[in-house]
Amino acid sequence: MIQKPDSPAFAFFMTLSSPSPFVELRRVTFGYGERVILDDVSLSVPRGKVTALMGASGGGKTTILRLIGGQYRAQSGQVLFDGQDVTPMNRQQIYAARRRMGMLFQFGALFADMNVFDNVAFPLREHTDLPEALIRDIVLMKLNAVGLRGARDLLPSEVSGGMARRVALARAIALDPELVMYDEPFAGLDPISLGTAARLIRQLNDSMGLTSIIVSHDLEQTFAIADHVIILANGKIAAEGSPDAVRNSTDPLVHQYVNALPDGPVHFHYPGVTVGEDFGLATQATPQPGVVR
Ligand SMILES: Nc1ncnc2c1ncn2[C@@H]1O[C@H](COP(=O)(O)OP(=O)(O)OP(=O)(O)O)[C@@H](O)[C@H]1O
Ligand SMILES: [Mg+2]
Repeated sequence: MIQKPDSPAFAFFMTLSSPSPFVELRRVTFGYGERVILDDVSLSVPRGKVTALMGASGGGKTTILRLIGGQYRAQSGQVLFDGQDVTPMNRQQIYAARRRMGMLFQFGALFADMNVFDNVAFPLREHTDLPEALIRDIVLMKLNAVGLRGARDLLPSEVSGGMARRVALARAIALDPELVMYDEPFAGLDPISLGTAARLIRQLNDSMGLTSIIVSHDLEQTFAIADHVIILANGKIAAEGSPDAVRNSTDPLVHQYVNALPDGPVHFHYPGVTVGEDFGLATQATPQPGVVR
């Protein structure tokens, strides 16, 4: 039977066929001090999917992850995590929400004086009262998922960069999060380790029924594994959609980013005074392209 578009049954059907986003930013504005980093930004992270958050360095990608994790509060707008706005939450509510998130931090190192096993066990010992026998089983299961069950006794100094990243990944999923946020999981990896890490993120997302957000500068690998791509530029969302739709975007900002062009709507220079003023040539100074005064 065909339902009328305004009937309750139709609305219910639509809810089932297009579930609400797991994370959503609605008209979020945020700055550290005076400088606006995110200017009226709205975006969606679909449930159960891998979403890539990309854009030039300093654009605010890590900042978005911090807002989702409740580490910083939006100055206006809403940051919805599974339908709940984290912005007005108290500390206890934030911790409860964060317990459902796993995070692989940018530059996030392993604890150097703990072996691989203890690194992965750390969040379990810190946040749960589980008996040690159960912690052992969980840690070994997580290490197995990243192919490093056999490396449990090694120290971080004894594993390669790619392996260390996989240990950090196992640690990020130790508490069985529903959302995992990876900040630059591929930085510094050789092409083989990078491919392995990318496939692993995809595979964990699907087998554990996660929702994943990857911040990455690696266009090729990220576009290959993502279902949804968001490009952030100059404090705004320049593009959001499927990898193909974003790749074919005619927006100049997106074109610059996807084709790795050094200058364009996204400026090479951090805002500041002109070169002329800095080098004592203020009177003859001509404005530099890309320099905001
Ligand atoms: N704690 C902070 N205090 C003040 N300014 C900050 C702070 N953290 C970040 N910023 C500024 O906010 C802007 C966005 O930073 P953010 O780390 O979110 O960028 P990003 O997109 O993650 O960049 P990258 O790709 O280099 O990691 C940058 O200009 C940065 O200088
Ligand atoms: Mg960053």
